[in-house]
Amino acid sequence: MKLKSTMLCATAALMMASCATENKDAVREIVTEVPERPEGQTDMVGFAAEPIDTVRVGFIGLGMRGPSAVQRFTKIPGAKVVALCDVDSARVAKSQNILTNAGLPAAAEYYGSEDAWKQLVERDDIDLVYVVTDWKTHAPMGVYSMEQGKHVAIEVPAAMNLDEIWDLINTSERTRKHCMMLENCVYDFFEMNTLNMAQQGLFGDIVHVEGAYIHNLEPFWPEYWNNWRLEYNRDNRGDVYPTHGVGPACQLLDIHRGDRMTTLVAMDSEAFTGADIMEKQTGTRPEEFKNADHTMTMIRTANGRTLQIQHDVMNPRPYNRMYQLTGTKGFANKYPFEGYAFEPEAVENAGVPDHENLNSHNFLTPEQKKAMEEKYIHPIVKEIGEYAKSVGGHGGMDYIMDYRLIYCLRNGLPLDMDVYDLAEWCSLAPLSKISIENGNAPVAVPDFTRGAWDKVKGYRHAFAPDHEAASEQTDEK
Ligand SMILES: NC(=O)c1ccc[n+]([C@@H]2O[C@H](COP(=O)([O-])OP(=O)(O)OC[C@H]3O[C@@H](n4cnc5c(N)ncnc54)[C@H](O)[C@@H]3O)[C@@H](O)[C@H]2O)c1
Repeated sequence: MKLKSTMLCATAALMMASCATENKDAVREIVTEVPERPEGQTDMVGFAAEPIDTVRVGFIGLGMRGPSAVQRFTKIPGAKVVALCDVDSARVAKSQNILTNAGLPAAAEYYGSEDAWKQLVERDDIDLVYVVTDWKTHAPMGVYSMEQGKHVAIEVPAAMNLDEIWDLINTSERTRKHCMMLENCVYDFFEMNTLNMAQQGLFGDIVHVEGAYIHNLEPFWPEYWNNWRLEYNRDNRGDVYPTHGVGPACQLLDIHRGDRMTTLVAMDSEAFTGADIMEKQTGTRPEEFKNADHTMTMIRTANGRTLQIQHDVMNPRPYNRMYQLTGTKGFANKYPFEGYAFEPEAVENAGVPDHENLNSHNFLTPEQKKAMEEKYIHPIVKEIGEYAKSVGGHGGMDYIMDYRLIYCLRNGLPLDMDVYDLAEWCSLAPLSKISIENGNAPVAVPDFTRGAWDKVKGYRHAFAPDHEAASEQTDEK
């Protein structure tokens, strides 16, 4: 990956400051290279593949997360699990049991080496490869799957650096295969209903959105295969796990459907805790542990909106994905408690404002919130929310994600998340790292669509023409 600094002054902070004083319009961003789109390739915005009647799936990676995906697929109409792969044969056997316990045919098994997954990908009876391995293997598996004529769905983050991101984009554009990141948090119930409210204009213009991954991973560190996750954190600064926070935020902002992220600035705390965890885990204290306890990234969009994303997996804080939205007419907040506030237009103006009342724009009461959620329930939540809860997977959102993936493939529709969502959301890791390692410098967010970010106006889920939910959604607009 090449960096092109467009700073008119030198990188030294002092020089940048004086540059800014002399010429406030000076370009001071670090700009990374955007590779030219190879001839003959076109963008994948709005791309839909031929419908697939029964989607035949192969899974790679059956550790903590993988088997729950296999379990969910036993309950998805029109999906068939054809093959399972992990380096560890016992892990394959565990997922095979899930299939047999569900009364389904056994899947082909691949295990025993770090390359066995290639044989799964090369099969000619698979439509979709579903990747649930560790972060470092995601992008190569994605690229190879598309090259072998398969659609691919990859766990978060699907790519860890800009080279991997551009590889996935170019391969998807060249092969005309879907490359979707399995970002489940965009399907959580509060997020879906709030997105629906936003799309109906309830919040007015959206001004600012916040997201986060704040999750104390203490109980999980010893469980990761070969300690991959802690090692990745040891070796990299920046927000290495941004997608749960930024994904739902980007859908609210219609990113690459009329707006795009243009610039980010990131800052991190000291890495106070990582070395202690590594020493506890391995018996050896690392000379350096790079990833901070707390990392913050601030982003501005082309249409002048802002996002803030946070990451903390080290400290004893309650789980928090933030999910907060400020609009010109309303406000939504998910963590630590869910609430909505709207402009009190309905409240009669009593004349002189009451300066004693500091809470004049209160959250809706629980009854009002419930009524709003019933009125603005997202059509997908209305359709399968209760069933999704009964299947489970982070309260049901994981099932909705898989259900939608298969529904769209079966109906030949654009997927809910395309390769540019993957790119934009994953890019926060390498771009925040660049910012931090360069004195918190502004870094340009590349236009991963290479010119197509304004082609579609507004983020929408796709539905088949005869789908009941489609008409409901259209009617309400
Ligand atoms: N979306 C979510 O809510 C969520 C939750 C948990 C994990 N995840 C993501 O899921 C992925 C997996 O996480 P995990 O917690 O299951 O990790 P894990 O370490 O428990 O499992 C990874 C599995 O991949 C296998 N693997 C590694 N290299 C392989 C190869 N070359 N061929 C075949 N198998 C290989 C390992 O043997 C292991 O079983 C990660 O990307 C993680 O970020 C997402």
